[in-house]
Amino acid sequence: MKREILIDCDPGIDDTIALMMAFKDPSIEVIALTTVFGNASVEITTHNALILNDYFKFNVPVYKGAAIPLFHPRKYQSIVHGPNGMGNVDFPAPTSKVSPKYAWDAIYDEAKKRGKTLTVLTLGPLTNVAIAILRYEDLKEYVKEIIIMGGSATKGNAKPFGESNVVNDPYAMQVILNSQIPVTMVGLNATETTRMTEEEHKQIFADASKIDPLIVKMLTHYKGVQGMYGDNGMVIHDAATMAVVLHPEWATSRLLHVDVETIQNSMYGRTIVDIRKHSKLIKNCTVVETIERAPYLKHLEKTLKEN
Ligand code: BDR
Ligand code: CA
Repeated sequence: MKREILIDCDPGIDDTIALMMAFKDPSIEVIALTTVFGNASVEITTHNALILNDYFKFNVPVYKGAAIPLFHPRKYQSIVHGPNGMGNVDFPAPTSKVSPKYAWDAIYDEAKKRGKTLTVLTLGPLTNVAIAILRYEDLKEYVKEIIIMGGSATKGNAKPFGESNVVNDPYAMQVILNSQIPVTMVGLNATETTRMTEEEHKQIFADASKIDPLIVKMLTHYKGVQGMYGDNGMVIHDAATMAVVLHPEWATSRLLHVDVETIQNSMYGRTIVDIRKHSKLIKNCTVVETIERAPYLKHLEKTLKEN
């Protein structure tokens, strides 16, 4: 039986590649996309999800979610993905329409009708899933697991220690960590282990004619911004996370206690990963530590070239 997955996302350049990867994989069934603010406003990320749904013929329902975080005002506008959230690349306008239900209701309904088989994968701020948890006390009985691209056991990106999906709504992360639903965190510490070198990038893009030109353009923008930030090569965070979902055998992880800073100071949005051996704190999160580079990069190249 196929694994059933609902993807909550904020497309998003790396979200796009993650979705391409997911929908090509015969071992999973993507049930729906839910959208959230993040890389752009929720209006824009929803529009982008519809674009991708049509362009790549995903044919799944798209449910719109939160426009703002649970509590604190939204402060950290990303420039990584450009004003249209897609690296300034213009895809054909979508014809499909958003489905008439809020994201959090869709998460609950889809989980409940299956009974603990649904994986909820988040590739954006965690607000929709947190609202579902707060709204539906019994959600924990129906969701199999939540897998998060977000947080970090080491450095951040939006802030010195804060990763952007969590910084965008730390309270939502806190709700999830306390939800009693099994949580896996694929943070920057893990996704960074898949960063391709300049050499590997050259190799993958040497024959760029096999890759959709719009995707090439988008990833050129994305790599350019990473370069502007002083990083060599390229890491595609959401795609690396999707690879962990599809191939958990490529990842190493540990069950640990994780907390998140919600006080508005320089640590705001930092995920605190307790690696102490003698820690007595509740181990509430599986923290991914490494992802095998070679099979991941091969898989990524296949995803890009076989669409
Ligand atoms: C995460 O933040 C967003 O910019 C990306 O889409 C990814 O989900 C990386 O920190
Ligand atoms: Ca994302």
